[in-house]
Amino acid sequence: MQERPKRLRRCQLSVPGSSEKMMKKASEMDVDFVFLDLEDAVAPTEKRPARAKIVEALNTLDWGRTTRCVRINDLTTEYAYEDIIEVVEGARENIDMIMLPKAMSASDVQFVDKLLTMMEKKLGLKKRIGIDVLIEEVEAMMHVEEIAASTPRLECLIFGMGDYSASQGVSIRDIGGPSGYPGDIWSYQRHKLTIAARANRIDAVDGPFADFKDPDTFREECRRSMILGMVGKWAIHPAQVQLAQEVFSPKAEEVAKAREMIAAYDAALAQGLGAVQYGGKMIDIASVRIVKNLVDRADRIGM
Ligand code: COA
Ligand code: MG
Repeated sequence: MQERPKRLRRCQLSVPGSSEKMMKKASEMDVDFVFLDLEDAVAPTEKRPARAKIVEALNTLDWGRTTRCVRINDLTTEYAYEDIIEVVEGARENIDMIMLPKAMSASDVQFVDKLLTMMEKKLGLKKRIGIDVLIEEVEAMMHVEEIAASTPRLECLIFGMGDYSASQGVSIRDIGGPSGYPGDIWSYQRHKLTIAARANRIDAVDGPFADFKDPDTFREECRRSMILGMVGKWAIHPAQVQLAQEVFSPKAEEVAKAREMIAAYDAALAQGLGAVQYGGKMIDIASVRIVKNLVDRADRIGM
């Protein structure tokens, strides 16, 4: 079985596929991951012409280190299959990922997987196109374990709190914004999705925050999802990109401390000790597993 590529997703920037100007701007930004949108950022009258604009942007702009994804329309629409066919036939190896919104079940993801398999064969593509899936309907949240295990092509689950709020009946004014709920309203959903993702060795990412002029609350939302195991957050505006990439990058001193702790544990182990004092506290193999996640993140970034 082909290994999943290790991609950075500290920030996934959403860019309307109908806007040549915004796609050009996105290609010039230092961002881990961009998705060119055919879904909600694009009006129905623009959806078909946007496919060609996206293909042009993928084939002609210099995207540098950025992972290139296209968000298709959901599988209940008349657009979805042609979104995939036109974009993949047009961009071939210049597209890395397809993002599937409003998935309801494992079979939705498997449909996209099979279509991509056929196209890769027909076009003779050397690399495998990955899939990221949005969990944004209550049905999807109920089936998140099956969705997470649906196909080896799946690389990431994203919590889409905009549509999810509508689906669950959450009263909230701004997408991803404050709700007045006592405590963190998304604690359960973020944990549930992240557990399903981690159990299948794939990434978990947090969705959008509409108020792009409020950096402090955005940073706090990044921090909440980062602490519980998510690897990144969406940006809907350039102003959010660096904020997210900062929060989801471990600090150099944390990484140095983690590596020091692992070395101290290894030294203890060599003396036949499983638990020792380190910095005045007990550490054992579980402490090492926890900080190894941090070191893995640092390695992915190249720190
Ligand atoms: N990607 C790339 N460039 C973007 C961008 C994005 N998501 N959002 C804004 N920009 C650009 C603008 O074109 C503008 O460029 P300029 O300075 O060269 O003119 C610059 O960044 C500043 O934008 P600003 O004037 O502050 O905002 P705006 O009114 O142009 O756009 C939104 C505001 C919300 C309409 C826009 O950010 C947007 O469309 N975001 C994405 C929406 C989306 O994808 N939704 C679906 C997923 S939830
Ligand atoms: Mg949505």
